[in-house]
Amino acid sequence: MKHQVSLSIIAALGIAALALTASSSYAATGAELAQKNNCMACHGIDKKIVGPAYKDVAKKYKGNADAVAMLSKKIKDGGSGVWGPIPMPANGPKVSDADIKVMAEWVMATN
Ligand code: HEC
Repeated sequence: MKHQVSLSIIAALGIAALALTASSSYAATGAELAQKNNCMACHGIDKKIVGPAYKDVAKKYKGNADAVAMLSKKIKDGGSGVWGPIPMPANGPKVSDADIKVMAEWVMATN
């Protein structure tokens, strides 16, 4: 009896650990892609460098259903005029559309 209880606790802990890894690895993917693709040279999560802080971007477009699509296009093609006169260089086609979308979703989740 005692043995069974501890086994189910171990099983429950295992499931909890799996759930934790699953949710945090999603966030890490966006962060890792942003590191790998040099985005963090110009952007901080909560401070402006050359480009806006990602938290400010997330705040600006919060509740906008088109934000991920719009930001993906901007990351891909580059552009200026939203945050100031300095342009963001284009990141596509060097960075894939799929990776760009993961980063756009991650940026929107930083708020
Ligand atoms: C050379 C510097 C530089 C690099 C590298 C860079 N950015 Fe930017 N980014 C900027 C600047 C400057 C702006 C502001 C453009 C504007 O005002 O329209 C910007 C804007 C943005 C925005 C907000 C767009 C908007 O219209 O509000 C997002 C999201 C973003 N960048 C993500 C990324 C991602 C993801 C990467 C890496 C793949 C990246 N940036 C790489 C400089 C950079």
